Amino acid sequence: MIDIHCHALNSIDDGARDLSESLEMLKLANENSISAIIFTPHIKCGGDIDEFINKRDALFDELKSAAKDFECPELYKGAEVYADDDIFYADIERLTINNTKYILVEFNFIQFIPQRIEKYFNEIKSLGLKPIFAHPERYSYCQNDYEFLNYLRRMGVLFQINASSLAGMGSMNEFLLAKELINKQMASFIGSDGHSPRGRTNELLKMASAFPSDLDAQYLDYVLNETPLLLLGDEEIPDSSIGQIAKQGNYRRFH
Ligand SMILES: [Fe+2]
Repeated sequence: MIDIHCHALNSIDDGARDLSESLEMLKLANENSISAIIFTPHIKCGGDIDEFINKRDALFDELKSAAKDFECPELYKGAEVYADDDIFYADIERLTINNTKYILVEFNFIQFIPQRIEKYFNEIKSLGLKPIFAHPERYSYCQNDYEFLNYLRRMGVLFQINASSLAGMGSMNEFLLAKELINKQMASFIGSDGHSPRGRTNELLKMASAFPSDLDAQYLDYVLNETPLLLLGDEEIPDSSIGQIAKQGNYRRFH
């Protein structure tokens, strides 16, 4: 498996706190059959991109050399870009995953205004980039309005869901949306979004063992192993969706 969303690079965001926590997370990755990790530290698109890249690259080199004596997953650089109105002025092409056209983006959880989100995705696309929406299932707006995600998917936005959501470690609404995104083959990636060797970990295999047993195993295999390779190679990820997502059976009518 390839973990496309992970905060195991230390001292740059709210992920691993120091080199030893980073190394512990690499060890957990090994134990969880993770063959490659993309480090995706948080950055605001209005932040100092030069400073972020210099710091990330230095920490990456430091971790890589500290891990050279271990059997270690392959390591790649990326970012999780917090998009807001600054996106129209930021040099976000420099924040893509492994220097591909793919960029992982997140938004304000509370002030999630769909018209603005659509504008940000359009801006990203106008730069020739391919947006990946990080864990849409965690936003209460999306949990209430599945139609908005159908709309974004038709626009060409890709979705990455968190393994913890699908393993039922978050809220019920988060789980139901994550499951529906897999059932309709609308999620292109599953990442750990691991932040620490304890608590919010990157134990992808352990979480996968708690996924609902009625999910399509072949599709899970595809999103955990194959789409990340297409992403790393900057290749096209085909639209494999089968229909649109819809809320399932939670409605009761009282007359
Ligand atoms: Fe994240």
